Amino acid sequence: MSTTTTVDVVGTARDRVDGRLKVTVAATYPIDVTLPGLAHAALVQSTITSGRIRDIAVDAAERAPGVLAVFTHMNTPPIAPGPVLENGPQPLPPFQSDAVLHYGQHVAMVVAETREQANAAAALIEVTYERDTPVLAYDDERATRVSHPWTPDYDRGDVASALAAADVRINQTYTTAANSNNPIGLFATVAVWDGDALTVHDTTQYPHAVRDTLAAVFGIDPAGVRVLVPFVGGAFGAGLRVWPHVQLVAIAARITKRPVKLVLTRAQMFTSIGHRPNTIQQLSIGASRDGQLSAIEHLSKSSIGMADELINLITHGTPTAYACPNVSTRARQIRQSIPIPGWMRAPGEAEGSFALESAIAELSYALKIDPIELRVKNHAHVHPDTGLPWSGNALLDCYRQGTERFGWSARNPEPRSMRNEGQLVGYGMGRGALMAYQPPCKAIASIRRDGTACVRSGATDIGPGPYTVMTMVAADCLGVPIERVRFGLGDSAMPRAPHEGGSGLTGALGNAVHAACVSLVHAFVNLVSDDEASPLKGCRLEGITVRNGGIQITDDPARFETYADILTRHDLDELTIEGESAPPGETSSATMIVQAGRFIPYTAPSTGTRAHAGGYAAHFVEVQVDPDLGTIRVARVVSAIDGGRILNPKTARSQIIGGIAMGIGMALLEETVSDRTGRLVTTSLAEYVVPVNADVRDVDVLFVGQPDAMTPLGTKGIGELAITGMAAAIANAVYHATGTRVRSLPISIEKVLGLQPGQ
Ligand code: MOS
Repeated sequence: MSTTTTVDVVGTARDRVDGRLKVTVAATYPIDVTLPGLAHAALVQSTITSGRIRDIAVDAAERAPGVLAVFTHMNTPPIAPGPVLENGPQPLPPFQSDAVLHYGQHVAMVVAETREQANAAAALIEVTYERDTPVLAYDDERATRVSHPWTPDYDRGDVASALAAADVRINQTYTTAANSNNPIGLFATVAVWDGDALTVHDTTQYPHAVRDTLAAVFGIDPAGVRVLVPFVGGAFGAGLRVWPHVQLVAIAARITKRPVKLVLTRAQMFTSIGHRPNTIQQLSIGASRDGQLSAIEHLSKSSIGMADELINLITHGTPTAYACPNVSTRARQIRQSIPIPGWMRAPGEAEGSFALESAIAELSYALKIDPIELRVKNHAHVHPDTGLPWSGNALLDCYRQGTERFGWSARNPEPRSMRNEGQLVGYGMGRGALMAYQPPCKAIASIRRDGTACVRSGATDIGPGPYTVMTMVAADCLGVPIERVRFGLGDSAMPRAPHEGGSGLTGALGNAVHAACVSLVHAFVNLVSDDEASPLKGCRLEGITVRNGGIQITDDPARFETYADILTRHDLDELTIEGESAPPGETSSATMIVQAGRFIPYTAPSTGTRAHAGGYAAHFVEVQVDPDLGTIRVARVVSAIDGGRILNPKTARSQIIGGIAMGIGMALLEETVSDRTGRLVTTSLAEYVVPVNADVRDVDVLFVGQPDAMTPLGTKGIGELAITGMAAAIANAVYHATGTRVRSLPISIEKVLGLQPGQ
């Protein structure tokens, strides 16, 4: 008896399904949305850092040509704060009092017939402030400390005693600069009311959060608010929170009875959509002479706005990073008069891994042990708290394969010992890791009588490629050719999806799409199982293969019928089923995985038997430093990545390259600078320097590891993984090249040349 084989699309390198739309300028981003009767908004932002608005003169602006309305705290209605969602509380609503808590706080918004008229009128608004002294230093007595419930104090063993007894100790302070997300696409919001129904186009990574927040603002049913964002553009975390300007635009549209559009200026992007707050971190590590870690203490302080809550998991990865019996972490947020922070790729973990992996490298020099050997020696083979085996952990393979590919053995461990054509050459490495995270997600799948499949979920695609990989997942689960599958997202009218954040979306959405598609095939099986006219009569999910747009009996390939034929015979236009992802480690008895068109029963290992592992990375970096000029070139990067099951090696590789590029920016270039009064100095891409193509040279990405055991899809988050450990790998390479240890990001030329403190 012959059996049918079919080939999975998942796992093959595929171009983006939306690539053509993007390169032909056919993709519509929020900034592109235009509507009949569209009015335009312009923001006025505070020029002081702390104080009160004593007077705000808007008469001239109100009389200016084309002006429809001017909004300030004097005439804006009370706004209810939105609900607390997966990513925590949203920033406080705008225009609710005369208080100024930071530079660049919105203080007025003009709505006019054109953008130029709105800008011109905004310039006529005169604000008189009463200043007080801003809180700008960690050691300011007025700087209150926040201990967030999401970042509890962590203690394992007895760090103080272990440090005291250690043969070798490292105790250093590391700092990371504030960084600002700078997607090239400016954030935009367009709001339009139709009676009591609100439609909003918004640059967001979380349409349902925008929907729920705006529903709370107007006290209406969330079903009456629709948020659309089929294409986000880059966001990198800047679109995770519901920003005050979004509420303002919706209010303005309500009051002016016009569709209203706001586009942030580049300068406003630095004050209005969050930033990666700066950190000061103290790392103490103790080890035995032969390199066994005995203690790690990681204390961090990071800045937070005066009236805001932000989850920032700076020390979160430290307790599980190494098999070390004594570990303590403290993460403190210190209130400062700074623009409301937000999230930027691997928030917290990028900064925390810089400190930890720099300190581990410093220990390797103190011990005269190769830094990779030191990491291998202290690898956490099991979860250090629970002793449970990991659901999937290929970090040792990352070390091994990365070492070989990079050619680490050519490294002379002595700092400042390697040269190439007059340049100092340094090799450095860093370990990266990202916690496992999979929030709940729903998706809906349909097969239509024309044989096409359509799968939707209210998620977003900020560039990693959900459009593409979800199309691939659906094609495999349904056995429908990929060209006949359409994946829809970016619409809050679609089933609820979480934020594209925490690198959790591929797992969340992928498992939801998988569940919906398996249920849809099941529905077809139910339809034909007692259908006399079907060659599939009597079939069960376990005995079929899906392929070529239909169902085949695996052991009897002649028995095949297309979905279209089944629908036609049953006089149905389509069959549609909603599905929901099961939390990792939880599966129902009906859970299946689909491989080569076949349905194989799947049971997740119970959470009590495995520690759910996240992704792992080992970065290997070669820098070339000019001994006279101090210029640093990242000449070569090899990153070995354990991302679990890689759905599309092409888009996954692009994700890793993007994370490496941002890691180069964080390590060498990016710094959001304020002056002594708290005013932002870096408000354009001339002053805030991001890496360009010339800064990102030879990048080699290796994927190692196996599908993760905890979910049917087997993925791990990779979107943020590549930036973790990357800044440390560069800092470690710079030390190896120059003998100068820079513990303060960014590693500027001045710090390398010793002209500015960097230690
Ligand atoms: Mo990421 S900072 O969770 O978009």
